[in-house]
Amino acid sequence: MDIAVAGVGYVGLVTAACLAEKGHKVACVDVDVEKVALLQRGKSPIYEPGLEELIRKNRERLLFTADYAAACRRADVIIIAVGTPEEPDGSVNLQYVWEAAKQIAQTVEKDCVVAVKSTVPVGTSDQVERWIYEHRKHPVHIEVVANPEFLSQGTAIKDTLHASRIVLGVESPHAEKVMKEVYDPFYLPYVVTDRKSAEMVKYASNVFLALKISYINEIANLCEMVGANIEDVAEGMGMDPRIGSRFLRAGIGYGGSCFPKDTKALRWLADGCDYELKTVQAAMEVNESQKVKLIEKARTYVSHFRGLEVAVLGLTFKPGTDDIREAPSLANIAVLLEEGANVRVWDPVGMENAKRVFPKEITYCSTIEEAVANADICFIFTEWPEIRQFDVRQYANLMKTPLVLDGRNCYSLASAREAGIIYESIGRKRVCPAEDHLPSEHIPVK
Ligand code: UDX
Repeated sequence: MDIAVAGVGYVGLVTAACLAEKGHKVACVDVDVEKVALLQRGKSPIYEPGLEELIRKNRERLLFTADYAAACRRADVIIIAVGTPEEPDGSVNLQYVWEAAKQIAQTVEKDCVVAVKSTVPVGTSDQVERWIYEHRKHPVHIEVVANPEFLSQGTAIKDTLHASRIVLGVESPHAEKVMKEVYDPFYLPYVVTDRKSAEMVKYASNVFLALKISYINEIANLCEMVGANIEDVAEGMGMDPRIGSRFLRAGIGYGGSCFPKDTKALRWLADGCDYELKTVQAAMEVNESQKVKLIEKARTYVSHFRGLEVAVLGLTFKPGTDDIREAPSLANIAVLLEEGANVRVWDPVGMENAKRVFPKEITYCSTIEEAVANADICFIFTEWPEIRQFDVRQYANLMKTPLVLDGRNCYSLASAREAGIIYESIGRKRVCPAEDHLPSEHIPVK
């Protein structure tokens, strides 16, 4: 099939590369000429393992252009995958969706199906169809379908090629038939429904995962109070197929471009219906306090951060991405800087993005050793493999005082104990060598 993809951001690019891999001809269009030029040279403007290789492998079936007419004129299916950023009130900014839809309306010259893949509020696909008809230049038949995606950063290609389901929100058998021609080569299960329900599937799924994380984080907090171990508790829960083991990793909260935004957008939608989404509200509040939980723990060891050497390992909102949007590390670093700490960070790929937020205030280190050397405290915010594989004994060897606060449970309690470090993690017992071995400022004040 001839497919056009509007928007070469995360979702658009991964979708395009995977559709090309399955044999479709895909024309990607974006108004950002720099990104287009980069892609024309076979380079990916985003960091995603395997993406550049997939683009190069399928370059004969992929076209990159800034010209909507060139991409859309003769396309059978046009996928809208532009960004839908968040507004300050939690609502979704649909400006790019309207711009893309208008360009499509003015350039298509044959009957086609337009699939909205961007995450959009319930009811948007209906509006997009009306909008396209208002701006249509040629008397062609255009049907809009809602076709949300569920890919995660870092595993986006696998998540697309082996997706758990293809959700199609269609209003006619014709649109369903066309969309199935797009996805049949993937051999994946379909959920076919109306447009509004398809749009809701996306929000309800993402927000459910956010709820699951906040729930396990609250149970972790309780585990700490009663002396239980969250890892074992989560394992025991996860074996129940009704619960499932995924998204039960306790930590310092979720970040990224989806969960924080989608929880707010769903609450905003409910507000508009005069309905209070209590569980979602609670999950958001738990996440906010969870993000700075390690700071609170650190305060039980030190009375202030002023002048302290603080190592920060991991900046991105999760491993496998350079994305630092809404990453818990940001909220923590902001507190540390405000209170006068000297912050030294290490992250394998996130430091370039962090330099835009903290250009001069923090020291960027090229190795973990460099970041932790002579530190008074070390915070871990992302479970990168390099951090997990770091020899715990090195904290004892390199730090001024080996106080490690781990927001992602990277190490076993046994290894921390053996290394003789003070180790605080999430939902597990504190590891602390005999207090007479500690300098007085590091003896827990509570
Ligand atoms: C998410 C959804 O998983 C995906 O389906 C959707 O399309 C986009 O949003 P993503 O934001 O890329 O994907 O990352 P994800 O792996 O879901 O992690 C989100 C956040 O939750 C991260 O900060 C991660 O550290 C945190 N998380 C995840 C936990 O704290 N515990 C877990 O058990 C799982």
